[in-house]
Amino acid sequence: MTSSDDSGSAAPTGLRPRLPSPLREAADERFARRGVRLLLKRDDLIHPELVGNKWRKLAPNLSAAAGRTVLTFGGAYSNHLRATAAAGRLLGLDTVGVVRGQELAGRPLNPSLARCAADGMRLHFVDRSAYRRKGEPETLAAVLRAAGAEDAFVVPEGGSNSAAVRGCRELGAELAGRADVAAVACGTGGTLAGLAAGLGTAGRALGIPVLKGGFLADGIRDLQTAAFGGPRGDWSLDDRFHFGGYGRTTPELEAFAVDFEQRHGVPVERLYVAKLLYALVAMAEENAFPRGSTVAAVITGRPFP
Ligand SMILES: Cc1ncc(COP(=O)(O)O)c(C=O)c1O
Repeated sequence: MTSSDDSGSAAPTGLRPRLPSPLREAADERFARRGVRLLLKRDDLIHPELVGNKWRKLAPNLSAAAGRTVLTFGGAYSNHLRATAAAGRLLGLDTVGVVRGQELAGRPLNPSLARCAADGMRLHFVDRSAYRRKGEPETLAAVLRAAGAEDAFVVPEGGSNSAAVRGCRELGAELAGRADVAAVACGTGGTLAGLAAGLGTAGRALGIPVLKGGFLADGIRDLQTAAFGGPRGDWSLDDRFHFGGYGRTTPELEAFAVDFEQRHGVPVERLYVAKLLYALVAMAEENAFPRGSTVAAVITGRPFP
């Protein structure tokens, strides 16, 4: 069943995405020696500014906003805030970014927030306790009031609402029948929720959480229920590759990312994509993928300079 508001592919006019995104084989002996093919699903090439899963998640929301101010949430280095700000500039929409950390208000903007501001996003800083409670209606109403944006179209942190999850279903549909395993790095899990639904029975989805905590599976089930009415697809998570949590890295992970860039000529985003690729190489070395199988890694982002 498809109706206009659940297609997930409603793209705002004025943006020209490259869809389906390219799917390329990467010759990598760490996979080849185990009889496994590695494909790179280049969602980072969808749009120069709405990169990767940001396009898939934001496009349906921007259409739904129908010209209203778009307000969303993020931390000081949020890829999602930058993408929303860029979309606002490209589409002539007003945007408000609610940023975690009142203490940042009095300081010079970091390069990520400076980019948001340069793209016309109005930044509103809130203390961490209010930020944590932003899902509660009274707290949200107070934040909207304080930001002078009571009529705004609100997109949640990370952009993962039902429209976004349905948008990510297209990613799964593009990969269905092309790979046995489609793997993606997870923050909120919205991208995985849609990917698994789009794959249906034509492949299995593997999520690599970059946050520590092991709490994601319930959230993914809730997102699928809200977006599709119930569980969809065959998906699983491997929680071993968060490297200490969001934004954390190690010299080994950094060396891995540099090496991968050199081997394959693909820029490796460090917060999410590096952990995904590291996980896939480690799992190939554990013989987690049967000989003769094809693994597609979704390149969901690009490094921010
Ligand atoms: C580059 C990149 N990859 C993956 C993700 C994870 O997406 P999700 O929150 O849908 O799990 C994000 C999150 O925003 C991201 O910026």
